[in-house]
Amino acid sequence: MTSQQSHRKDEHVSLAEKFHQPTDTSDFSQVRILHQSLPELALSDIDSTVIFQNRRLNYPILIEAMTGGSKQTGQLNAQLAQLAEATQLPMAVGSQSVALKEPALVPTFSVVRKRNPNGMVIANIGAGHSVDDAQKVVNMISADALQVHVNAAQEIIMPEGDREFYWLDQLAAIVAKLDVPVIVKEVGFGMTAKTVQKLMSIGVKYVDLSGRGGTSFAKIENFRRPEKEMTYMADWGLTTPESLLEMRKLSSRPVIIASGGIKTPLDAIKALALGADIAGMAGEILHHLITTDYAATEAWLIHWLRDFKQLMLLTGSETVKDLRKQSMVFSPELESFARQRFIS
Ligand code: FNR
Repeated sequence: MTSQQSHRKDEHVSLAEKFHQPTDTSDFSQVRILHQSLPELALSDIDSTVIFQNRRLNYPILIEAMTGGSKQTGQLNAQLAQLAEATQLPMAVGSQSVALKEPALVPTFSVVRKRNPNGMVIANIGAGHSVDDAQKVVNMISADALQVHVNAAQEIIMPEGDREFYWLDQLAAIVAKLDVPVIVKEVGFGMTAKTVQKLMSIGVKYVDLSGRGGTSFAKIENFRRPEKEMTYMADWGLTTPESLLEMRKLSSRPVIIASGGIKTPLDAIKALALGADIAGMAGEILHHLITTDYAATEAWLIHWLRDFKQLMLLTGSETVKDLRKQSMVFSPELESFARQRFIS
């Protein structure tokens, strides 16, 4: 368990925590939802359920892809799976390609299925892998769906990263051949409308925009560079609110997961109001697990989900769909982005 890839998994966890930002630094502060003084609702009226990939979820919230691939991160995956089971949230694992190379690492991923036999579990692999590899990682954890991550910016900043990014043909083959839904996912750099159009043209029906604003692989991978000279990339990419605004340019849309910088229930409410179908959270959950313990993290997440429902009430939204009808006001910076990108 000492390979370079396995060691990188541990480094990603410790560096994600090193660069973790407090909740009041969110790019979602550029979006305001207007207050409703007369909700005419009770908490018991609020229906936070959604249908996602033919399953009814209690909340439109996903525990995002993070980890596995080393002893320490296998333990984290076990805790994340326990959290997913306790809250009945769907969860994704981190990239499983390391376990394709080193079968001894398989249990650090398959533990999520063992701990959470009936939950919705999502496999994860990098773009560029074959259909065969994609099917193997799905089988490895008996996954209900597969995330394929597109992480060109991370690879470029990563000292040992890939330098060839011909991905569309393999993605098309994976989408066509796999018998589980395929989600194409960024890793914190966001997506433009053009990217999503390209993905839709090859049959992709689910995207995870994963924008800038939370865990920053620009900062993490730069820190891993001997010279640490690529600090200038810290602001590379689109924020999650910007990525969501980009989707307004599309005449037809895929199912949209928004992640990247979602830390509070209010951030999630805003992402859904901006058009996301599901909001995903990674770094903030990891932060709680690392700085407190499992029990405190579970208590925090249960509290978080209750607050999410309370905020639905406060915005006068009886259902998750109603969140899309909210009146919003954007900061001058976000409004300028929308104007320059011809988004109405
Ligand atoms: C990640 N993320 C990630 N994504 C992915 O598709 N495959 C992966 O292997 C990983 N690995 C990973 C490790 C760690 C430690 C973190 C914190 C994150 C990215 C993650 O799923 C998400 O897209 C980003 O972290 C943005 O969300 P947050 O962290 O701002 O909520």
